[in-house]
Amino acid sequence: MVPRAIKDDIYWVGFIDWDRRLFDSLIPTPHGTTYNSYLIKGSEKTMLIDTSDFGKENNLLAAIEMTGIDKIDYIVSNHAEQDHSGSLPKILEMYPDAKIITNSKCKELLESFLPIPKEKFIVVNDNEEISLGNKTIQFMIAPWVHWPDTMFSYLKEDKILFSCDFLGSHYATSELFVSDEKEVYLSAKRYYAEIMMPFRTMIKKHLERIEKLNVDIVAPSHGPLYDKPSFIIEAYKDWSGDSVKNQVVIPYVSMHGSTKAMVDYLSESLSNKGIEVKLFNLEIADAGELLMALVDTATIVVGASTMLVGPHPLAYYATYLVNAVRPKARFVSIIGSYGWGGNAVEVLKGLIPNLKVELIEPVYIKGYPKESDFKALENLAEQIYNKHAQLGL
Ligand code: FEO
Repeated sequence: MVPRAIKDDIYWVGFIDWDRRLFDSLIPTPHGTTYNSYLIKGSEKTMLIDTSDFGKENNLLAAIEMTGIDKIDYIVSNHAEQDHSGSLPKILEMYPDAKIITNSKCKELLESFLPIPKEKFIVVNDNEEISLGNKTIQFMIAPWVHWPDTMFSYLKEDKILFSCDFLGSHYATSELFVSDEKEVYLSAKRYYAEIMMPFRTMIKKHLERIEKLNVDIVAPSHGPLYDKPSFIIEAYKDWSGDSVKNQVVIPYVSMHGSTKAMVDYLSESLSNKGIEVKLFNLEIADAGELLMALVDTATIVVGASTMLVGPHPLAYYATYLVNAVRPKARFVSIIGSYGWGGNAVEVLKGLIPNLKVELIEPVYIKGYPKESDFKALENLAEQIYNKHAQLGL
């Protein structure tokens, strides 16, 4: 990749991964991603901020070389995850005098993933600064966006915040800065839903801290940079805030149409009451789309057939995933159908200990829904409507 100048003596030396279509072996990345690394040349010292994924070493080395900078004194590791540290051993080999600047937690993780000698590390604490001569980097320990090791680096003179995974997006683009806010908004929301949503409380604290800084540019580890940072800061405030939408998300799986008939009936009842409904047929759903819908929704209703004696594995998987990302939804219910018996409802209820929700009585029936079952679904829709109304939705 050709390096790009962000400002005088500050370069993006990242890699645009146009072809990546899955992250964490879990979430589709329809727009690819980037692994952003940054090179800062001070009057006395030179610093590389983060490296790249495994296999991208030569691209990173070539980009550094093209800047004309032939010496690296410091390599900052803001986060040990391998998409940012995988190239670190090779960079150290090529720049043997460079020291790794990181925090103690990140050092511990790096040492567990990569063969790095202890003497290579300089460990920094929160708010510690390192001078490059005419440029000063302040380090800000910012745990849990994405791992407990995460750290931000703030270039004070140029007002650039290197925010690591935080505020990023899986969005491959040749543009250095965000040019299409609508496109990037959706990619950033998808990214937030998978990576950041479980850590809403920490996110709010980090946002407050960032707002006290004077930031002209946010330079994340994935996706384009923000030269109008308020765009992404306001989006994160909205997503991580406590308000929810008058919306019901229904991930469902139906083996022979009974659960589907229930889902359709409930969906129509809710729509008739003015509630937005988002259905996700788990046979074909994009997990990223489902997680994005969970960012704002007030209610989640899982639609699950019984397979043998338990919930269908797709419903089990989706419920497990919902629990893992800890959406701010307020209400949950379960609907579905069984053949001869089983304990699907009890199993699914046991899968959501992380959610701070009120469980609305499930509607779980034998066979195809009858008149009385549709009435029960109508009642469920009514309960959801009333609960949303109580929230002022
Ligand atoms: Fe992009 Fe948590 O690594």
